Amino acid sequence: MRLSYLVRGFPGHPLHPPLTDATIGAYTVSAALGVLAAFGVDEPNLTKGWWLALIVGLIVSAPTALTGLADWLTISWRTPLWWTATRHMLSMLAATACFALAAIFGHDRYIAGDMGSWTLAATLVGFGLLSLGSWLGGTIVFVHGMRVKEREQ
Ligand code: HEM
Repeated sequence: MRLSYLVRGFPGHPLHPPLTDATIGAYTVSAALGVLAAFGVDEPNLTKGWWLALIVGLIVSAPTALTGLADWLTISWRTPLWWTATRHMLSMLAATACFALAAIFGHDRYIAGDMGSWTLAATLVGFGLLSLGSWLGGTIVFVHGMRVKEREQ
């Protein structure tokens, strides 16, 4: 067994994709709760849920980004795959920055239990970038075929 398997996962079983499910799931819950809170649905409680889901997303982003980076480092520079993967990385880093800003400046909102418009806007911009990055992530795998073992016919 190679040491890199601990960070990149086994052949045919990369670690990055399952971690992305947890990250995208947490941010999706956060965005949904933020929108509902902004529409006045149980605002005190859903604002707290919005912020806590953001924190969960930020925590799981760390291993997600690390495993993605480990795979990205194996790609030959300036190839079509590398450009797609680099755009994916930049989208995800920008999304993470939006979510981090929303969490930092939204902490008072969490305490007060009222959803602010700027914190919601940062969450939704982050969610848009996350969606773009996820689409590019799918391109890396399903168009360029990275980390895919040969298909059985
Ligand atoms: C932290 C937020 C991130 C999320 C939510 C995310 C999400 C995704 C998704 C959805 C895929 C497609 C997986 C599939 O459908 O099987 C993917 C693939 C990929 N991502 Fe990310 N990603 C993130 C960060 C990063 C970073 C920071 C890098 C590079 C530095 C990166 C590099 C890659 C690579 C190389 C692949 C294709 C190979 C693999 O699955 O490991 N990702 N990512």
